[in-house]
Amino acid sequence: MKIDYKELYMSALDSSKNAYCPYSNFHVGAALMTASGAVYTGVNVENSSYGAAICAERSAIAAAVSSGERNFIALAVASPDGDAKPCGICRQVLFEFGGSIKVITGEDAEHLEIEDSGALLPKGFKL
Ligand code: THU
Repeated sequence: MKIDYKELYMSALDSSKNAYCPYSNFHVGAALMTASGAVYTGVNVENSSYGAAICAERSAIAAAVSSGERNFIALAVASPDGDAKPCGICRQVLFEFGGSIKVITGEDAEHLEIEDSGALLPKGFKL
């Protein structure tokens, strides 16, 4: 399937408006494309107990898995507040579903960076 990286990035950026981030004020959106062509979005959801926050990437993955999807081909992450790069936990969570998922990030849609999930987490853990 041909992936429109820019379009996926724009969906991530658009969903960032729903981020719940009263503590960091750093809005993040993620858009996860599956092999079926469906796109699941997610946002960061923060909490008074800071450590309970969930990142946009994991929100999108949870939404997709909750709908019965596990075959991921691309994940875009975007923020209007800066260059959002997936944290270590999100890299591990994504790696669970494969090492060749395209991860799209960048400061804006004209400067996209595309890397494989396996390259973002060398020697990722697998049971
Ligand atoms: N955050 C994400 O949701 N994804 C990223 O790729 C980077 C960081 C969130 C976590 C927290 O709610 C806020 O951004 C600041 O770290």
